[in-house]
Amino acid sequence: MEKIVFNGEIIERSKVKVDIEDRGYQFGDGIYEVIRVYNGQLFTKKEHINRLYESAEKISLSIPYDKNEFLQTLEELVAINELGTGIIYLQLTRGTFQRQHGFPSSEITPTYVAYTREMPIPQSLMDEGVKGLLVEDIRWLRCDIKSLNLLGNIMAKQKAAEAGCYEAIQHRGKEITEGSSSNVFIVKDQCLITRPATNLILNGITRQVILRLCENNGISYREEVFTINDLLEADEVFISSTTSEVMPIVQVNDHAIQSGIPGPVTRKLQQLFKQEIEKK
Ligand code: PDD
Repeated sequence: MEKIVFNGEIIERSKVKVDIEDRGYQFGDGIYEVIRVYNGQLFTKKEHINRLYESAEKISLSIPYDKNEFLQTLEELVAINELGTGIIYLQLTRGTFQRQHGFPSSEITPTYVAYTREMPIPQSLMDEGVKGLLVEDIRWLRCDIKSLNLLGNIMAKQKAAEAGCYEAIQHRGKEITEGSSSNVFIVKDQCLITRPATNLILNGITRQVILRLCENNGISYREEVFTINDLLEADEVFISSTTSEVMPIVQVNDHAIQSGIPGPVTRKLQQLFKQEIEKK
């Protein structure tokens, strides 16, 4: 029987009921995280938990668990479900209250759910590279919050899927922002470039690991805004995320990136990332 975490307790999935007036269900009033699990170990767990608490603070949601307790329960869940390589999905909503836009007038308890799912590393896609589709970024101006409101993101991803592409590469006017569920990097003249982590993108944990790997391995990088043209003329392009790691983009719309195969800096970072996973 699959177990999940519900409001801090590990219980059977079939026993969980969420109210129709849960604010997550009605408004998307909540936050989430996706944590990678490799061989039963949570990867970059502290970073994910810290970002979760930061997102909570940004929407004035107070999490009624301390961080250690929170992580301990997730580790227990992974062990109980015997998860090898996969993910933990977790979300907290503001809780249940009679529907009104403003926050509830009395104290309510957040609804907290976490579950595990097996998910292999997408090795063959990482070897060959995938296609991206340029999509106008129509999302709100607080993309730094890992909010449950993902309409803009899912509509962008759907457009990409319908065009036979793996990811939507979003842009605000000429400027590239991020993927629908990933961050975007380009390489130009041996230098890695990614957009600074402002309110317009999620500061990906994978993104942060990649920048640290650059720092520690003498790969030069800049956090700088870049344009659609820069992307199309780049030497290499890749995206990063918890589930996709370092994923080469070899074609954008109908345009091949250089010769249409993953480039050497991308390869190097994939290798360094793998070593980082094995360290844990
Ligand atoms: N998505 N940007 C957006 C909009 C994202 O949704 C994600 C992650 C990222 C990359 O963040 P990280 O490296 O911390 O995974 C960037 C997750 C995996 C998801 O929604 O499934």
